[in-house]
Parts: sequence; C-alpha cells; structure tokens
Amino acid sequence: MEIVIQEPAPQPSNEQLEFWDQKHVWHSFTQMASYTPFIVESAKGCRIRDIHGNEYIDAVSSLWCNVHGHQHAKINAAIQDQLKKVAHVTNLGASNVETILLAKMLVDVTPDNLEHVFFCSDGANAIEVALKIAFQYWQQCDQPEPKRTKYIALSNAYHGDTIGTVSVGDVPLFHQIFKPLLFEPLRLNAPNAFDFVDDESRQRALEKSLTEFEGLLSENAGQVAAIVAEPLVQGAAGIKIHPEGFLRGIAGIAKKHNVLMIADEVAVGFGRTGKMFACEHEDVAPDILCLGKGLSGGYLPISATLTSTKVYNAFLGDIAEKKTLFHGHTFAGNPLACAASIASLRVFDEEKTISNLEPKMRRIGFRLERLKEFDFVESPRQRGMIAAFDLKTPAGKNESEFGYYFCDLVQQYGVRIRPLGNTVIIMPPLAISEEELDMIFDAIEMSLG
Ligand SMILES: Cc1ncc(COP(=O)(O)O)c(C=O)c1O
Repeated sequence: MEIVIQEPAPQPSNEQLEFWDQKHVWHSFTQMASYTPFIVESAKGCRIRDIHGNEYIDAVSSLWCNVHGHQHAKINAAIQDQLKKVAHVTNLGASNVETILLAKMLVDVTPDNLEHVFFCSDGANAIEVALKIAFQYWQQCDQPEPKRTKYIALSNAYHGDTIGTVSVGDVPLFHQIFKPLLFEPLRLNAPNAFDFVDDESRQRALEKSLTEFEGLLSENAGQVAAIVAEPLVQGAAGIKIHPEGFLRGIAGIAKKHNVLMIADEVAVGFGRTGKMFACEHEDVAPDILCLGKGLSGGYLPISATLTSTKVYNAFLGDIAEKKTLFHGHTFAGNPLACAASIASLRVFDEEKTISNLEPKMRRIGFRLERLKEFDFVESPRQRGMIAAFDLKTPAGKNESEFGYYFCDLVQQYGVRIRPLGNTVIIMPPLAISEEELDMIFDAIEMSLG
C-alpha cells in the first residue's frame, strides 16, 4: 500500500513547532512531563539562535562536541563537497576515500602504538565494540587466556547507554533500574582531586586507589580482560577530576598484569583538557582508544575505536577460523562524517587551536576562582577547557530540579548550559573567545547573586 504523507504546514508557526516538539519528539535524558521546548533555528560560531530570535552562547558545545564553532566555513565546505561525490558507502567489506584518509590521519595524531581504526556512529558504540574486542582478543590471540572475561571499571563511570556500556557504568540515577540486564564489572574507586584539601592527602588517596587496583588484579589473576577508564576527567560523573599520576599509574599496573587498557576519550578527546588527547598529559599509550563527540568537530555523528597491532593481529586468519570481528554499524565510516572530521583536524592545524587555548584556560581559572565568593558555589574545578562547580541546594529542594532552575536563570542572561544534577558544567567550543568566556561567567555570577 502506498503511504500518504500528511505534510506539516509549509511554514509552521512557532506555537505549532513547540506543540509538535512536546507531543512527538521524545528527548534524551529529559523528563517529558515537564519539558519546555527549546528549539534552535540556527547557530554560528559559539552562538545559537532559537526560533524566537533569541541568541545564546553555547556554553556546553552542543553537549561537549562542538570544537571550532558552528558553521565553520571549512567544515561546511568539506561536507558540501563530499555531498557532490557520495553521501554514504557501506564499510562492510568496502571503503571510500574519506574513510581511508581519516583513518590515516587519526593513526598519525594518536599515540604511536595505535594503528587500526574501527568506525562507529556514536560514543557508546565506540566503547561497546572496544569491550567486545578486548573479550574476543583473549579468546583467540596467539596465547589465548579464555578465562579473561572480566572488566574493571571506575566508580561513577559513564561510557554510554547501550547495555554493554551501562554494565561498565556506575551512575545510579541512570543505571540502577537496568541492573537485572547487566554484567557485573569489578569496580575501582577513582579519587577526585578536588575532594582533598592538600597535596599530601591527595597523594595518599592516589596511592590507596592504585594499591586497590593491584589488589583487584591479584585477586582476579588471569581473569581480567581489560580496564576501561575515562582519562583525567570523568564527565558525566559530574566532572570528577583525577589526581595527577592516576592515569599513568593505572596504565602501568594494567601493563604489568597483562590487562588491556581501554581509554574512553569520547568526552575528553580533541583538545578539551588542553592537549589534543588526555592520554598525552601522562604519556599513556592505551591498547584501545575510543573517540567520538569532537571527532567531526561536533558536526556529524561519527566515532572511532583505535587499536594496537598486537590486538588487531589476533583477529586475522582464514575465514573458516572465525576470528573475524562480527560487529558493525550501517553508517560506520560514513563519508560525509569522515569529510567533516578530516576538515576539523585540518582546522586544528591551520588555526593552531591547541596552542591558542592557553589564555582561555587561564581566563576560566580566574573566573572560577571568583565564584568561590558566592554562597551557593561549592568545589569549583577545572581541567583545561572543562570547568564545573556544584550548587549548594537549599534545604527542602531537589538537587536536579535546583540545577535546572539555576540553568534557566543563566539562560535569561543569554547563556545556554545544562546541569548534571546539582553540578553546573561549562564546556564551551574551543573556538570561544575570552570575551565570550567572560559573558558566560558574568551570566553565572548574575544568576548567583
Ligand atoms: C566519556 C563518555 N563516553 C561515552 C559517551 C557516549 O557517547 P554517545 O552519547 O555519543 O553515545 C559519553 C557521552 O557523553 C561520554 O561522556
């Protein structure tokens, strides 16, 4: 039977759009019963404009993914040029020019041991496949250790919303209800550098955690396939920042115990921590590296899982040996998304994006320090271009509701942020100007004061 499309009104009114948005669009991580439509009509640079013509600074980089600002001429042109060639080609047993070039560029900019790139379309699946690769590796590598079926994951971890990534996750609000469906990882308590008042207590917490890691590996000798961790900053945990040496420490211990290290740089990759990749800060070369969000500059859905040759080689053999990685996604390595990603990497180079961050990071640090004067502010913290503070929730108020209430106030001053419970997160595009950073913090101070 032919379908008949009931065309929506050619020029729908704002009221119609808001009505249909509320009625038909089921928004992620959003309580639809109390959702108030916020409908973006366009965006340029670090500003987004809603359908009513109001302009806001995009202080969350469209959920931690926009890097060079919206409508960057070079990224737009790359997507348009690619569209004239081909929009999509399957990655299953076939390739295209852009996918190949992007893989080569990623291999060149990431740690030297990473040589092979498996593409997906979102961050969760980049981790999901990393978990499966680690598992399958131990079943069929040269000297198989099939009992290595366990994972170690960090306390408060968030790696996405598929069942595998929820299993290694540890955010009760998001994950608790799914417990009956999940496999249980071993859990390592990761310290938050900002929980400690001085270097000595921070160092003690670091050592305690690393000793705990050694202990977990000894108790489960020969049974752990991999540790999965967000390097330096655990974003969705509420911007939990590890003390210096934690990443290097876990990487060294994992290596000593022959356990694979999966670094989830979906949120922290592409400059957010002040270096291109967070692993660079502590000279860590993981066995498996997961990238997403900022890979395409935040323009199109794409993610990548890079592996070492040691890992990759375990999957090679005759077809009949069934060593193939039987995993894939229809839109993996999509040429349009790859073209955007290649353009984004070129912009990093041409605009010296990373070296230009220094004054911006100092500005964030200076403005965060000032927030300490406000009664409602707790634990202001920063790692590179990532900043956060907690809101002291007034007695009798719900933390999450108070977070939303506060961000609504900030929005009235022209800045769009999204809270995580009572944590206010500022993670603007790397292209933001110092003047715009001041506008963000001015709006926050006005809302606090
Ligand atoms: C560290 C980390 N890993 C994985 C993901 C999941 O990425 P996606 O939302 O693209 O599936 C996120 C998303 O916020 C993340 O912060």
